[in-house]
Amino acid sequence: MSAKTILCIGAGYVGGPTMAMIARQCPEYRVLIVDIDAARIRAWQSGEPPIYEPGLKELVAASLNRNLFFSTDVAAGIAEADIIFVSVNTPTKTFGQGAGRAADLQYWEKTARQILAHARRDVIVVEKSTLPVRTAEAMDRILRAAPAAVHFEVLSNPEFLAEGTAVRDLEQPDRVLIGGHDSESGRRAVAALVDVYAHWVPRERILTTNVWSAELSKLAANAFLAQRISSINSLSAICEATEANIGEVARAIGMDPRIGPRFLNASVGFGGSCFKKDILNLVYLCDHYGLGEVARYWEQVVLMNEYQEDRFVRNMVAAMFNTVAGKRIAVFGFAFKADTGDVRESPALRVCQALMAEHASVVVTDPQALPNARLELAVYGDRVTFESDPYTAARGAHAIALVTEWNAFRTLDYRRIYAAMEKPAFVFDGRNCLDHAALHALGFNVLPIGQKPLTHR
Ligand code: UDX
Ligand code: ADP
Repeated sequence: MSAKTILCIGAGYVGGPTMAMIARQCPEYRVLIVDIDAARIRAWQSGEPPIYEPGLKELVAASLNRNLFFSTDVAAGIAEADIIFVSVNTPTKTFGQGAGRAADLQYWEKTARQILAHARRDVIVVEKSTLPVRTAEAMDRILRAAPAAVHFEVLSNPEFLAEGTAVRDLEQPDRVLIGGHDSESGRRAVAALVDVYAHWVPRERILTTNVWSAELSKLAANAFLAQRISSINSLSAICEATEANIGEVARAIGMDPRIGPRFLNASVGFGGSCFKKDILNLVYLCDHYGLGEVARYWEQVVLMNEYQEDRFVRNMVAAMFNTVAGKRIAVFGFAFKADTGDVRESPALRVCQALMAEHASVVVTDPQALPNARLELAVYGDRVTFESDPYTAARGAHAIALVTEWNAFRTLDYRRIYAAMEKPAFVFDGRNCLDHAALHALGFNVLPIGQKPLTHR
C-alpha cells in the first residue's frame, strides 16, 4: 500500500507535535490534523501552537501549509486518508462504572464511528492515545461492521514523548513501538507504518509486537516510571525523619547500573496527563481479570503520590507555627513540570487546595501555565490570585512554595525577594532545585524535600 495522506484526529499535546515531526521528516506525505476544537485549530494554523513546547513553533513552521495542514472538517479528512492516527483525549471516567479508574472512551468510540461512516478506501487506523489494553480490539469490532469494500487495519503505536522535551523525544526516540495483528493485512499495515518512521528512526529502534503487547507496554512503561518517583519519594519521608539526605541516597543507589541515575529526583509529587491515568487503567484492568493483589500493588504508587503532596503541605503548616490562616503564600509554578504550560494532574493543584483549606491566601506564579491555572482554580474565586511576576507574587508573602522546577526560579534575586517578604520568611522547595545554603544565608528558613531543614533559631 503506498500511503500518501496521513490524518491525525486530535490536535493536542500528542497529535500536534508528532504530526509536525512526521511532516518534516516525510516531505512526500501529506499530513492533515483535524480537531473539533476550532480555536485550537486556528491557533495551529496561525503558526502559534496552542500548547507551549520548546522547539515546537519552529518545527511546525518548517512544514505548515507545505505538507502539514490543520482543519476542523473531520469527515473530509477521513475520506481522503490512507493512515489515520487517533489521538483524541481519553481521560479517567468521572461517572458510572469504573468512575475514577477506568478510561473514558466516549471520544475514542465516537471517532471509531466517524471513521466507519466516512472512510472511502482501505485505511490503517493507528491507536496513538494511551488506552486500556484491548481497546484496539473494540475499535476493530466497530470497524468490522463496515461495508465489505473498505478494509480497516488497526495498529497500536503508543507515544513515549514527554512534555517539555517532546521535539527532542520525537526526533531521537529511544524506541518506536508498533503493534499489529498477525495476519497478511496486519503485517502489511505494520510495514507501512514502519516505512513512515524509518525516514528518520534507525530500524533497530523500531519494535514490532502484537497489538496487546504494544498497548500494555505503554501502561507498563508509565507505571514503572511513576513507581520510581513514588519509591524515591517514600524514602524522602524517611530521610526527613532521620539524618539521611535524599540527594545522597539517590546518588548512591543510582550509580548501580541496574538501577540507573535518572528519574530519581524526589519531589512534591508527580503529575501530568499520563502517570496517574495509566496506572489507574492498569489497576482497573487487573481488577477486571480478578488480579486483586496486582491491582493493589500498582494502586499504591498513586496513593504514595497523594501522600507526598499532602505531606508537603502538612510540613509547611507545621513549620509555620501550625497555622497558615490569613497568610499570603506564593506558589512558584503551577505546571506539572518545567517547560510546559500543561497543568493536568499537577501536584500544584492539590497543594493549592490544601493551603486554601487551611485558609491561606494563595498567589500563583508560573512562566507558562497561568492561563491553565486560572481555568483550573476558577471555582475558588478570589481566594487565589495570579501574578506573572514572581517578585510581585512574593511581596508580602510569609512563604514561597516551589512546586515546579522552572529554570527561571533558580536565577531570581532572592535577596530582593527576602527583603519584600514577611518575617520569618520560609522557602519550601518541593523540587530541591534552589541553592539552599545561599537562601539560608540570606535569612530564609529553607525546607527541602528529604533533607534537613535549614532554619534560624
Ligand atoms: C510521561 C512519560 O515520561 C512519557 O514517556 C509518556 O509518554 C507520558 O508520560 P510526562 O508526563 O510528559 O511523560 O513527563 P515526565 O517527565 O515523565 O514527568 C512526569 C512527572 O514526574 C512530572 O510531574 C515530573 O515533575 C515528575 N518527576 C519526574 C519527578 O517528580 N521526579 C523525577 O525524577 C522525574
Ligand atoms: P493528549 O495529551 O492525549 O494529546 P489533548 O487533550 O491535548 O490530549 O488532545 C486531544 C484532542 O482531541 C483535543 O484537542 C480534543 O479537542 C480532540 N478531540 C476529542 N474528541 C475528538 C473528536 N471526536 N474529533 C476530533 N477531535 C477530537
